[in-house]
Amino acid sequence: MALYDKVMELSKRRGFLWPSFEIYGGTSGFITYGPYGVILKHNIENLWRDFFIYKQENFIEIETPIIMPSAVFEASGHLEHFTDPIIACLKCEKRYRADHLIEELTGVNVEGLSISEMNEIVKEKDLKCPDCKGALGEVELFNLMFKTNIGAYKGDVGYARPEAAQGMFVEFKRIFNIMREKLPLGIAQIGKTLRNEISPRKGVTRLREFTIMEVEVILDPEEINNCPGFEKYKNTSISLLTASLQQKGEPPVNITIEQAVEERLLDNKWLAYFLAVSKSFVKTLGVAEDKIRFREQLPHEKAHYSKQTIDLQVYLDGQGWTEIAGHAYRTDWDLSRHIKFSGVDMRVFKKTEAPLTVKKLVLKPNKATIGPDFQKDAGKIIGELNKMDPVEVKNKLDSQGFIEVAGRRLTSKHIEFEEYEEVVKGKKFIPHVIEPSYGADRLVYTALEHAYTEKEGRVILKLPVKLAPIQVMVYPLVERDGLPEISNQIYMELLEKGFRVEHDVSGSIGRRYARADEIGVPLGVTVDYQTLEDKTVTVRDRDSWSQRRIFISELADILKQFFEEKISFDQIGYPVNKIE
Ligand code: GLY
Repeated sequence: MALYDKVMELSKRRGFLWPSFEIYGGTSGFITYGPYGVILKHNIENLWRDFFIYKQENFIEIETPIIMPSAVFEASGHLEHFTDPIIACLKCEKRYRADHLIEELTGVNVEGLSISEMNEIVKEKDLKCPDCKGALGEVELFNLMFKTNIGAYKGDVGYARPEAAQGMFVEFKRIFNIMREKLPLGIAQIGKTLRNEISPRKGVTRLREFTIMEVEVILDPEEINNCPGFEKYKNTSISLLTASLQQKGEPPVNITIEQAVEERLLDNKWLAYFLAVSKSFVKTLGVAEDKIRFREQLPHEKAHYSKQTIDLQVYLDGQGWTEIAGHAYRTDWDLSRHIKFSGVDMRVFKKTEAPLTVKKLVLKPNKATIGPDFQKDAGKIIGELNKMDPVEVKNKLDSQGFIEVAGRRLTSKHIEFEEYEEVVKGKKFIPHVIEPSYGADRLVYTALEHAYTEKEGRVILKLPVKLAPIQVMVYPLVERDGLPEISNQIYMELLEKGFRVEHDVSGSIGRRYARADEIGVPLGVTVDYQTLEDKTVTVRDRDSWSQRRIFISELADILKQFFEEKISFDQIGYPVNKIE
């Protein structure tokens, strides 16, 4: 059985995760987390918070709605750009992701091809529906956002967010104010995101509903290379597959993030810094260094808002290098679009060291020409003109020779401009954005696959201690002679003291140990006959299966130190049989 299938089989059997709606035949692209999967996912999210929020200066977390009005996505560009090519069978009406289908049927790499180029291949090669052999229709663009109505029947159109980022941008002004108007400001969010993938393949790598973990680092573009954390990480070496290496068919280079910035392989220090933070984070999930690399997205792969995007990929069995995070330099795309579409000024004021003399433009409607030319509309036109940005009006008149105001066409004879100089103590600018963005579900699968091991025909899930859903399993050796009463007391005490603990009472002790190993429980505490004599218990290590003895009275304190990673297993209690 392939490793992927083994991991998924274990996940299902032991209650980590499985495909949703099984009783109705299943719908691909959705998964359900069971009791251990939920805790594992929360542990990963909390670890991510440690790395990407709590240990960063002036970074905070917010929570915004999943459904957003269409205006947000008109501004963000998702209505126009967030599309995939789709093709339908004219006979059975099955829909396919067009680029994937063409690649599967012909072996031709269609990356970066336009819709018409894909249509040509479909015609030239006379491609047919793989299911019913029917004729295929035209390749079209399909928007991946789930559309809905906000309110009953004919309510306003809304969309489920395809990324959490837009929630951070639309709330930027208020948050900036709450955070005492200081940049850089990191705004983070963890939450559900929906993408109506055309034909998601198996598993958890392409879901229609998934959890995204994103930070939008909002900063002054003139300070983009002033990154306080960079110094600490500058010698971190990464395996980097640049766009140019991919185009030449060459392998990744190993390079420090400092060198990568110096050689201009990475656009700026903030972007580079997050690659190093990401590497460190992913290693704590149990992924080995040689299974982590960074790949620059090729020009045609980049999202519409990105100047440079570097994906973090991990190596997964059967799937190869798989993207689990993207790091994008979004420039001022999002904020400038929301400023433009909402009309709200979200620019940030910055004091300059010396006062600046700036040229200002004033717009003056020419009443002598507007009055006669537009008669009853003149008042309205003058009112509108007075609200408009003089620079924008002048630019439009210069570039197209006219401007539309209140539905009427005005030319330069209707508007006069006056220029004057003003001394100001600072300037306004639109901040830029660096974004690390993670898919939490892919991380859960990655952690499971990288923890999956087999020993003597049994499965051991060697999850890092910080991720393990259950920390301690408590057992009586047998279900009689007063042992379960003592193990129950220990279980209750550990529960009370905040450990994630379970009490597993019946069945052979071997089978109970095997179950705990499959769930990835790092330590087992067993009450046996010696406990009745000297009030000691054994502690069993999941990974080595070795055991130590410890007094019950010391147990909680020592376990606490173990889970805080202050002591190793060999420092717990005493070797078995050597207790004094
Ligand atoms: N916000 C990152 C993404 O949409 O992938």
